[in-house]
Amino acid sequence: MTDFKRYLVTAALPYANGPVHIGHLAGCYLPADIYVRYQRARKRDIKFIGGSDEHGVPITIRALKEGITPQQVVDKYHALIKESFEQMGISFDIYSRTSNQVHHETAAAFFKKLYDDGLFEEKETEQYYDEKANLFLADRYIIGTCPVCGNENAYGDQCERCGSSLSPEQLINPRSALSDAVPVKRKTRHWYFPLQDYEPWLNEWLIEGHKEWKNNVYGQCKSWLDSGLQSRAMTRDSNWGVKVPLPNTEGKVLYVWFDAPIGYISATKELTPQWADYWCKEDTKLVHFIGKDNIVFHCIIFPSMLKAHGGYVFPDNVPANEFLNIEGEKVSTSRNWAVWVHEYVKDFPEQQDVLRYVLCANAPETKDNDFTWKDFQDRNNSELVSIFGNFVNRAMVLMHKLCGGKVPPLHLDVMDKADEDLIAEFEATKTRVENLLEQFKFREALFEVIDLARKGNKYMQDKEPWIVAKQLATDPGKQKVIDNCLHICLQLTANLAILVNPFLPFTAKKLLHQLKVVDKILDWENAGKAKLLSVGYTLRAPELLFRKIEDEEIKAQVEKLRAGSKKPESAGQPVENKIQAATLKPVIQYDDFAKLDLKVGTILSAEKVAKADKLLKLEIDLGTEKRTIVSGIALHFAPEAIVGKQVVVVANLAPRKMKGIESNGMILMAEDGEGKLHFVKPEDSVDPGSGVS
Ligand code: MF3
Ligand code: ZN
Repeated sequence: MTDFKRYLVTAALPYANGPVHIGHLAGCYLPADIYVRYQRARKRDIKFIGGSDEHGVPITIRALKEGITPQQVVDKYHALIKESFEQMGISFDIYSRTSNQVHHETAAAFFKKLYDDGLFEEKETEQYYDEKANLFLADRYIIGTCPVCGNENAYGDQCERCGSSLSPEQLINPRSALSDAVPVKRKTRHWYFPLQDYEPWLNEWLIEGHKEWKNNVYGQCKSWLDSGLQSRAMTRDSNWGVKVPLPNTEGKVLYVWFDAPIGYISATKELTPQWADYWCKEDTKLVHFIGKDNIVFHCIIFPSMLKAHGGYVFPDNVPANEFLNIEGEKVSTSRNWAVWVHEYVKDFPEQQDVLRYVLCANAPETKDNDFTWKDFQDRNNSELVSIFGNFVNRAMVLMHKLCGGKVPPLHLDVMDKADEDLIAEFEATKTRVENLLEQFKFREALFEVIDLARKGNKYMQDKEPWIVAKQLATDPGKQKVIDNCLHICLQLTANLAILVNPFLPFTAKKLLHQLKVVDKILDWENAGKAKLLSVGYTLRAPELLFRKIEDEEIKAQVEKLRAGSKKPESAGQPVENKIQAATLKPVIQYDDFAKLDLKVGTILSAEKVAKADKLLKLEIDLGTEKRTIVSGIALHFAPEAIVGKQVVVVANLAPRKMKGIESNGMILMAEDGEGKLHFVKPEDSVDPGSGVS
């Protein structure tokens, strides 16, 4: 279906257990907002849905840590997050929350329908229970020794050192991240959703039907489906969440990933009595904007739930972004390695569009990208100030100086090719921006807008109306040339206001003010037109659209980032705290040590492992042989940066498959208090294959 009557756009509901950072903005809220603003300007019937995700383990844990109730946690962060979005111009039609009544009712009824239709499997299993804290422990909150690499602080779902995915049962000496108690197994009953039953449908609807989805999204879905789906528990033991709507289920709630996406539906209900038109009519285009860690939930699990329930539309697209790193390092909220939105708006008042610009121009659309303050400054100073701002300012200033403050006429008799070419670019740019936005290519679309301003600058530079003005005394006819130049530049400025509006709405508003025109002009259908401003119309005095950002401001931000980044303790993330509690392993005999075959190797090549953020595949020269070793260091080192380095290899470790690649050995790394990894290697370069003992 290509003819959609209405649009429903959602942006992932952020967990209300902390503020939002710029990675959140770049990941989904900004692209969603740009898309929605553009569609609104096209007069589409569209609703933009957002809200806070207020259930789940992260919130109960934070409450436990801070000694407050989960409700207090979510009240605090919901308000903060909502305000941050408003300040940045993220124009939700509703920003709701999953702790409210409508949502609890909607999610419970959804669950009940699947239950009544016999679509769940009820199973009793044994799960880890913390008798000190009196609760069942989610996998992530069980810590123990990794059976693969011996890391003593592996999580119940994954070892961050070697990258193996684990289950809590595999951990040696498991302990609770909350109380340090040794968890005990307890029987518990839960309702499982048999995802495997939806495989045939998913293959048809998604794999066959949505080949146009972004590669990063489609590829992840395909690999999930290729490796086969399994039943997943849709309930949890907890007192915080949507109560399971069945008898005798005290202390059981819906799994947060069951209830949260239903939050999109509840919020739409809250927004409009017509909610069912948006959710149930085939000619709705539903688009979910998310970050890459949410792909499986939005492309596989939620659609399967909708399919099971029946009566709902499925997403037409899920344009997920990758991650934005900060100054070369992965964002870590627990280490406070992040640029917080509520702090940005305080530190840079009235500069929302600069951040919007930089995050869009550098959006992690196809791969992880890096935000640096230097790039923020450069893009502001050399693109917004020098290209866009400069063009508009020159046009306005010269019009006041050379055309009496009014829009000058266009004299057809003196028009030349440069004039015509530039006017032709209005429409051409509009068409390009439109096509790109429809394909969720926001970076390229924004580039086109800036490029039009760049063309305007070049045109003005070539025309030099300020020089022509000097000839007026001898040749008054030249006024026509000046008029034409400024007429076209002003029409271009009006076009820029329309085109830039989805991206930089605050700037578009300022432009309207200077041009003294009403909001109506921002209708998308006006873009491309060359007669937006009437001849003889008086315009306001120019005001600068952007200001230069100084070195000191950037230095202050970098220092703030470094000074504020900390070891995990104070951030209320118990899992990482435990890493700090270094303990000594039990004493071993020399014979135990002698079993290890340690050798020096040289890294010949390194490449990222597909669909595994943390893994690098290394080829290592061990003198007499070459080895393939898969190592969980991809977040710490760029592949190209480590080629040629020497490393110490555990050469007689049993082979192990990771993401389908056989790893033969492991390399030694030192981990400092900040969680940074450092190579362990001989001080001077030695022949590959040299023994270590
Ligand atoms: N809270 C989740 C996260 O931050 C996203 C939930 S999206 C929803 O990763 F669809 F479940 F709402
Ligand atoms: Zn491990």
